[in-house]
Amino acid sequence: MKLTVIGGGYVGLVSAAAFAHLGHEVLVVEKLAEKVELLRRGVSPIYEPGLEELIKEGLSAGRLDFTTDLREGVKFSEVIFICVGTPSLPDGSADLSQVEEVARLTAKYMDGYKLLVNKSTVPVGTHARVERTVRLYLKDKELPFDVASNPEFLREGHAVKDFLEPDRIVVGVKSERARALLDEVYKPITEKGYPILFTDPASAEIIKYASNTFLATKISFINAVADLCEKVGADVESVAEGMGYDKRIGKEFLKAGLGWGGSCLPKDTKAFIKTLEEHGVNAEILKGALKVNEERVDRLLSKLKEALWVLKGKKVAVWGLSFKPDTDDIREAPSLRVVRRLLEEEAFIRAYDPKATENFKKVFAEGERLKYCQSPYEAVKGAEALLILTEWDEFKRANLKKVKKLMELPVIVDGRNVYEPGEVRSLGFEYYPVGRP
Ligand SMILES: NC(=O)c1ccc[n+]([C@@H]2O[C@H](COP(=O)([O-])OP(=O)(O)OC[C@H]3O[C@@H](n4cnc5c(N)ncnc54)[C@H](O)[C@@H]3O)[C@@H](O)[C@H]2O)c1
Repeated sequence: MKLTVIGGGYVGLVSAAAFAHLGHEVLVVEKLAEKVELLRRGVSPIYEPGLEELIKEGLSAGRLDFTTDLREGVKFSEVIFICVGTPSLPDGSADLSQVEEVARLTAKYMDGYKLLVNKSTVPVGTHARVERTVRLYLKDKELPFDVASNPEFLREGHAVKDFLEPDRIVVGVKSERARALLDEVYKPITEKGYPILFTDPASAEIIKYASNTFLATKISFINAVADLCEKVGADVESVAEGMGYDKRIGKEFLKAGLGWGGSCLPKDTKAFIKTLEEHGVNAEILKGALKVNEERVDRLLSKLKEALWVLKGKKVAVWGLSFKPDTDDIREAPSLRVVRRLLEEEAFIRAYDPKATENFKKVFAEGERLKYCQSPYEAVKGAEALLILTEWDEFKRANLKKVKKLMELPVIVDGRNVYEPGEVRSLGFEYYPVGRP
């Protein structure tokens, strides 16, 4: 099938490259010319395991192409996936201006039936807004079209696998024609036994927010339990393991630490709170989850202060800048708040991340107080404390004897429970994990 994907970010690129891998012919429309230029050369503008290989494969098979021209994209196929950004507005609600723009322009360029499939995360009711916008901007053109909701559940760092082997595909449609088209689009995946749920567009839109905010709440829940564990000398890792054996609870997303960040959970939780409140529905559960999450950085820094007393003038190593391992994404990463606070306290920071340094530099330029390092060992040289903010495998495997020799003081404040406390302490470190004795 011919498919158009609008927006060449994490979701658009992974979807497009995976669709091409499955045999579809895909044209990606991306606004930013520099991204399109890279992509045409087979270079992925984002770090995502396996993505660049799929882009190269699609290009050489002639099944994947890129353009900045939305008109070309609209003409290219009947099925148009909207994968543009829906960031937070200052009041927490979702900024839908990119989606609205795509709806308007699609209507302008339409010359026959189109199915607009919304893959971006959008509040319930957006499908109706898109439908109305297309109808308005079609003006006198009497063309048939459908709008469907097909929220995306991929996780950065596992995006390609998540797309090709999903827990479920959710499709909200109002017409048989739209259902048949999307059934065909996803056939190469559903034929392998992966489930697809057809529902109405409003339910599909809610499924995305309800899933993400449930996961955010699960993490905040275990973090609140971790706070109690710290007070009474219990071990949150044991507590989580004990809870996780219960099939109704499950082990996933029960990891205490520095909390949730990234481009999805914080923004989606704020937006869902807004939606619930707009409809007069009680949002206290999610407000509580958000509050627990916002306290995480304070708790980490209070441990650092407990260890070093005064931060002014102290050399602090930071391991991990991305919001989670295996991605270069730093959007809403806790590291942003940690580094800002350390700079305010006039500490000297030496930071290292395997993939996210370049993105971080765009927010915090290198300077006298903030140096970016090429290796974890360079970062800890002369440091009076090491903060671990992301659980990259590289940190789990680090040679801690070497780390101790390089550091000025053997202090580790671990925001991700990367190490076994007994082992680290036996090497002579003062070790501050999350919710562990
Ligand atoms: N990143 C994730 O892990 C993830 C997972 C599931 C769902 N989502 C949702 O998917 C959506 C996209 O997320 P993302 O992380 O891919 O965003 P992103 O910011 O990485 O990518 C969006 C891209 O769309 C482009 N764009 C914007 N307007 C355009 C237009 N008119 N024409 C062509 N290109 C245009 C932008 O230049 C950008 O490259 C969001 O709603 C997000 O919440 C994201």
